[in-house]
Amino acid sequence: MSLQGKKLILGITGGIAAYKMNYLVRDFVKAGAKVKVIMTKSAEDFVSPLTFSTLSKNKVYTDFYDDNKTWNNHVELALWADLILIAPCTANTLAKITNGLCDNFLMAVYMSAKCPVVIAPAMDLDMYVHPTVTKNLQTAESFGHQIIPAEFGELASGLVGQGRLAEPETIFKFVESQFSDSEKKLTGKRFLITAGPTYENIDPVRFIGNHSSGKMGFDLAKEAAKRGAEVILISGPSSQKVDDKNITLHRVTSAQEMFDEVFKYYENTDVAIMSAAVADYTPKVKATEKIKKNDNELTIELVKNKDILRTMGEQKKNQFLVGFALETQNEEENAKGKLVKKNLDLIVLNSLRDEGAGFANATNKVKFFTPTEEQSFSLKSKEDVAKDILNFIEQKL
Ligand code: PMT
Repeated sequence: MSLQGKKLILGITGGIAAYKMNYLVRDFVKAGAKVKVIMTKSAEDFVSPLTFSTLSKNKVYTDFYDDNKTWNNHVELALWADLILIAPCTANTLAKITNGLCDNFLMAVYMSAKCPVVIAPAMDLDMYVHPTVTKNLQTAESFGHQIIPAEFGELASGLVGQGRLAEPETIFKFVESQFSDSEKKLTGKRFLITAGPTYENIDPVRFIGNHSSGKMGFDLAKEAAKRGAEVILISGPSSQKVDDKNITLHRVTSAQEMFDEVFKYYENTDVAIMSAAVADYTPKVKATEKIKKNDNELTIELVKNKDILRTMGEQKKNQFLVGFALETQNEEENAKGKLVKKNLDLIVLNSLRDEGAGFANATNKVKFFTPTEEQSFSLKSKEDVAKDILNFIEQKL
């Protein structure tokens, strides 16, 4: 994977984080990319075009006309680019992007472009969670743009929260990864992924199960395989299908069967992602014949299933271990608790309180926690959630 010869436009808008773009431009140029910088008027209040023209070895665009009144052709510039990165992207520019408000040179280039667009927002924490920003980020994603979520940390206001521009290294890796699809970055990596529900038999007719469709796990398996990984996919009962020579599918029914199947492969796994919704309890006795409807009440005694993920955490050697947390209350606290208790490298939280998230939907809304970081994502298709998870893992491997 390389940025050698890639043509990048960096659009800088007016936020304090604009100063970090010095490092990014330097690193892009070092990596062999051709970089052209466009600055909005308010970006010039924070950083100087001279810095960027020196670092990029190219003229910096700030308006439709240069000082000598020569016209800057926004269409030509837009068509030149292999990728447009807007970083930091203010709430204002984000709103212009989603509403087609073309009142400056950056917007004219953006709207003339045919290449992929990557947006790295940065703003104060309350602005970042404002419904308009949330909606605009979702709209930008629906245009096919990629968002590099803002990070947690101290903000220019002195407050601490999510809103900080992603670090230049993160943005660099993200941009680099946009050119790496064909290079199959996960070639040679062995993935173990679980999907779907488990069914715990009560009798030959009935079972205890849950609403998992398996889609999240199958989409993860497909995305990992697309990137070259060799995938063992262990799924509970699900109507999902897969046809990929890099994916070996093992279908199981109960939590105990999933446990047994997982530990056939775990030792030789590089990355394990446990997205299955595993039953915590199973009937103590499974009736061999259909239970008859005799009494007004029926009591089924349940016993605890083994926690597959927790056991994996206990036996972890070099594996990168990812768990999911499906919560309905105290979501973050519970997810962080599972991260520690199960010795995970990453936990992906989805909450049933978020509309469109969790079971059965084609969409999900997730939040990542590692022992040191956290990142929130907007509601998106499960295919795109799988991409976010795989992008994150790729950066960590
Ligand atoms: O299949 P879909 O319809 O697409 O829905 C996706 C999903 C909602 C099932 C998925 O995104 C998800 O959240 N999966 C985990 C559901 C769950 O069981 O969460 P939990 O918080 O109860 O469990 C925490 C983690 O421990 C999970 O990684 C789970 O796989 C694992 N676990 C739980 C119990 C157990 N006995 N063994 C386990 O390994």
